[in-house]
Amino acid sequence: MLKEIFEGPEVVEAAMRGRLNPANGTVKLGGLEEEVEELRKKSALEIIACGTSYNAGMVGELLFEEFFGVPTETALASEYRYKHDAPMKNAAYLFISQSGETADTLAALRKANARKCLTLGLVNVVGSSIARETTAGVYNHAGPEIGVASTKAFLSQLTVLTLMALMLGRKTAAAKMIAAELAKIPKKIGNVLRSADSIMNLARKYAGYHDFFYLGRGYNYSVALEGALKLKEISYVHAEGYAGGEMKHGPIALIDERFPTVAVVTKNALYEKMISNIEEIKARRGKVIAVATIGDTMIKKLADDVIYVPPTVPQLEPMVNVVPMQLFAYAVGVGKGYNVDTPR
Ligand code: M6R
Repeated sequence: MLKEIFEGPEVVEAAMRGRLNPANGTVKLGGLEEEVEELRKKSALEIIACGTSYNAGMVGELLFEEFFGVPTETALASEYRYKHDAPMKNAAYLFISQSGETADTLAALRKANARKCLTLGLVNVVGSSIARETTAGVYNHAGPEIGVASTKAFLSQLTVLTLMALMLGRKTAAAKMIAAELAKIPKKIGNVLRSADSIMNLARKYAGYHDFFYLGRGYNYSVALEGALKLKEISYVHAEGYAGGEMKHGPIALIDERFPTVAVVTKNALYEKMISNIEEIKARRGKVIAVATIGDTMIKKLADDVIYVPPTVPQLEPMVNVVPMQLFAYAVGVGKGYNVDTPR
C-alpha cells in the first residue's frame, strides 16, 4: 500500500502523458474522440461507481458541471442497478472502475446498455469486462493496483476526470488555467509525500481513538468520504465522512474529547465555512486535525494538529489533499499490527 501511495506522482503523469498540452489547455483522449460530438449533444450525465471510484465520481460531477456545463449526478452502482428509475432522456453514462470487474458496476452498465444509452468507461484494467462492454472509454494507465485499498487508482481517476471535463468543455481562461495547474500536480503530491514521516507520526498519536469524523466541503467533500473509507478499510476504526454543512443536522451530537475530526480546511471559497465547523467542534471539546494550506498560520491557533499541503486550485485540491488521508490510514493500520495490503 505504501509503495502504491508513493506512486501517486507517477500515475498522475502517466494519466496525462500524450493527452494534455498544458501550454494551450488542449486535451486529446483517443478513446473518446469518436463520441465527442455525440456527448456535446447530451443534456445530462450520470456517473456510476462503487467505493473509492464513486468518491472519484463525485469530484467528476463537480468538474463536469463546472467545465462541461451539463447537469451531472453520481450514483452508487449498487443502488442504481436495482432502482425502478425513469431513464434520463438524452443522458450519457460514465462507469468508473479500477478493476473493470466490480459486479454492481457491471450490472449497472448492462442495465444502461439494455436501454441503448451511450455508455463510457473510466477503467484501469485493460480488456476488463467494463472496458469491453462500454461504448467508448479512457484507461487510467495507473499500472496494476495490488493493494486492496485503492490509492494510486483514485489519483489517476481524478486526473482523467479532469481531462475529460476539459476536453468536453469550452476553452475558457479558467479551463486553461486548470490545465496548466494539472501539470504541476505530480510535484505537489511529491511535496506532500516528503512529509510522509511526520504525517504517519501524527497518525500514530491518534491510533488509540475508536471514532473519527472526516469533514470537507465542495471539492473536498469527496476527500472526507475517501479519508473515512480508507481508515475503516485498513485500520478497522469507525470513521464517518461528512459534508461540513451537515454536521449541525445531527452528527455534531457525537462530538466530545474522544471523537476527533480530520477537517479538510484548505484555502478556497469555503474556507470560512470550514472554520465555523471547526469552531463548533472545538466548543464541544472535540480534537481537530486540520489539513490546511502551507502558510495558513491562523489554523494553528484553532486546530490541535495541522497537516500542511501545498496550495492549488480548488478543482484539483482533492488530488493533493487525499494523500495525507491515505498515509494516515496506512500508519494507523500498520501501527495496530494489521496487514494493510490484504485487509479482512
Ligand atoms: O475496482 P473498482 O474501482 O470498481 O472497485 C470499487 C470498490 O470496491 C473499491 O474502490 C473499494 O472501495 C476500495 N477497495 C476502497 O479502497
